[in-house]
Amino acid sequence: MVKIWMKKTLLIAGIYNILWGAWAVLFPNMAFELAGAELPNYPQIWQCVGMIVGVYGLGYLIAAKSPLKHWPIVMVGLLGKIFGPIGFAWSIYQGTFPIKFGWNILFNDLIWWIPFTFILKAVWDRRGHSQITKGIDESEFSHFPDRKRATFINGLSGYKSSNLIGTIDGNGHTNLSIISSLFHLGASPALVGFIIRPSSARRDTLENILETKCFTINHVNKDILEQAHQTSARYPQEVSEFDACDLTAEYLDQFKAPFVAESRIKMAVELVREEKIIENNTHFIIGRIKKVYLPEDCLDDDGHVDINRAGSLCVSGLDTYLEGELIGRLSYAKTDRKPQWI
Ligand SMILES: Cc1cc2nc3c(=O)[nH]c(=O)nc-3n(C[C@H](O)[C@H](O)[C@H](O)COP(=O)(O)O)c2cc1C
Repeated sequence: MVKIWMKKTLLIAGIYNILWGAWAVLFPNMAFELAGAELPNYPQIWQCVGMIVGVYGLGYLIAAKSPLKHWPIVMVGLLGKIFGPIGFAWSIYQGTFPIKFGWNILFNDLIWWIPFTFILKAVWDRRGHSQITKGIDESEFSHFPDRKRATFINGLSGYKSSNLIGTIDGNGHTNLSIISSLFHLGASPALVGFIIRPSSARRDTLENILETKCFTINHVNKDILEQAHQTSARYPQEVSEFDACDLTAEYLDQFKAPFVAESRIKMAVELVREEKIIENNTHFIIGRIKKVYLPEDCLDDDGHVDINRAGSLCVSGLDTYLEGELIGRLSYAKTDRKPQWI
């Protein structure tokens, strides 16, 4: 699991490398003067070292965004931080280098060993999975404490889409709510469905949809993830999640319900029907897609929508957000041939 200290470590490492690199490029003799060593014949070589260190700093900054995903940058960095001190120790042993240079080694290399190693260990630990299968039957999980049971069951349906449902009531009060239960119901007509949980309290999304017969669906992307998640908080009816969560309501083509301006793929949807699910008092909302808005470059000629390119996220359970990583597209499955990568 990625931890915040991993990101911070790589951020600091990145800034440190860039500063150190700039120092070596701009003042190539200074490190030698400080260490009381002879000045190099070709300071350009030291400047070149500074350039490489600085450029690697950029790599750390990139890795800071997603340390476990960018582990090769961390690994190559750690190798450099191991081989550098080995070379230094060898030069000291040979008496060809002043020991005072060790300060560089301490701050450039040694202090990073532990955090970099722990980042790589986290990558290693999560490779593969346990060979031991654990069976948990209903009599056991139904006795989990409430939150644990919900978290456990919520995660079982796998990766789900994350969308914001934009609605408005008859008085013009807007509402925004994150959902993960949206699913495709049919292409012709273009139908989607989602589930609204039961509640003793008023459900603004449900009430608004039943009142105005329309809503918008807005894909969540990384830039608005925290705001999108925050819409799940129980704000009073008179508070719009657009305002409370710092998202922008926009109205497109006279459609009554508000869209999320920051979302890249969005749909205007008309209510077709609400169906009560008697087994657990949830509400099944069926909607018909009336218009789709998406970036031009996310629509391929064959109709494929590149949601990955649009940065749309998915979610597992109610708190674990993920980015999609493309494996590829497979041809339509036929009984007489194997699928082809397209
Ligand atoms: C990731 C995530 C997914 C959610 N999915 C749903 C869902 O599919 N259906 C639902 O009713 N609530 C879902 N919720 C909870 C709603 O977002 C939350 O109850 C919301 O405040 C309801 O708003 P409203 O009362 O204004 O309609 C989800 C919450 C999170 C964090």
